[in-house]
Amino acid sequence: MLDLAAAASRSARAGVRSIEVLRTVRELREWRGETGDLGLVPTMGALHDGHLSLVERAVRESERAIASIFVNPTQFGPAEDYRAYPRDEANDLALLERAGCAAAYLPSVEQIYPAGDDTRIVPGDIAARLEGAARPGHFTGVCTVVAKLFEMVRPTRAYFGQKDFQQLRVVQTMVRHLAMDVRVVPCPTVRADDGLALSSRNAYLSETERASALALSRGLFAAREAWQRGERDAAVLRGAAGGAASAAGRPEYVSVADPATLREIAGRADRAVVSLACRVGRARLIDNVLLGMTLDELAAL
Ligand code: PAF
Repeated sequence: MLDLAAAASRSARAGVRSIEVLRTVRELREWRGETGDLGLVPTMGALHDGHLSLVERAVRESERAIASIFVNPTQFGPAEDYRAYPRDEANDLALLERAGCAAAYLPSVEQIYPAGDDTRIVPGDIAARLEGAARPGHFTGVCTVVAKLFEMVRPTRAYFGQKDFQQLRVVQTMVRHLAMDVRVVPCPTVRADDGLALSSRNAYLSETERASALALSRGLFAAREAWQRGERDAAVLRGAAGGAASAAGRPEYVSVADPATLREIAGRADRAVVSLACRVGRARLIDNVLLGMTLDELAAL
């Protein structure tokens, strides 16, 4: 009987990979060729089960799936963690290969930003609040790199996690405004058994900090429970989330916003995204829950 796992591990030891590793736009274009149906998972690497759930979905739904790994300098502020951001190329490639990804695109900074490149895509109102306000220029960097990746890869579908909710909405909005020929697929947040949303930045947390970081998801779950009991007052939902979350430290923001516009809701909420940002140790963590709306409905916005 053919033992696929043993064969894969023999190949890996011998340095033979079933995943194509592409580092230049030219290699990418040659590999892409005439592939009709292509699923893209854009990542910054340091892959965890959250990323892998996107990859597995892309593999399931596409003729071929590709993941990009690129720590994008333009989406980090000057005082942020661009240099410290966790990087583990060998492990990421092994995980992608095991998940059935056909190719990984790992461009250098020069491939994405050729010398003299000062062209940027600046998102509008959807990027003005929450993460956009806390991290000036962040979404310009995200839109610019995502647009470049879309142009280089020309995917049929691109998979984004709900965990970065505003990023998902900013990208959906860019795709609609620029009539980009790609379908953005929102995918659910993956959580550890204790509720903590998986994030590459969780690697910065000590054991004690990880325990206090649980207050974020507890806050969001408290808001969701209030919603399930019939509570619709945005201020009460905000209070429920913020009250529990403050055990992790003072949240940078506690938001109950309309999922389409990300504007804060005053009064009654018929649907909402409740989101939080909080610094725990040297990690800046964000998380959210979506109330009164499904991800499929979000995909159709
Ligand atoms: O979510 C991320 O990992 C990044 O913001 C993305 C979408 C790969 C763009 O750099």
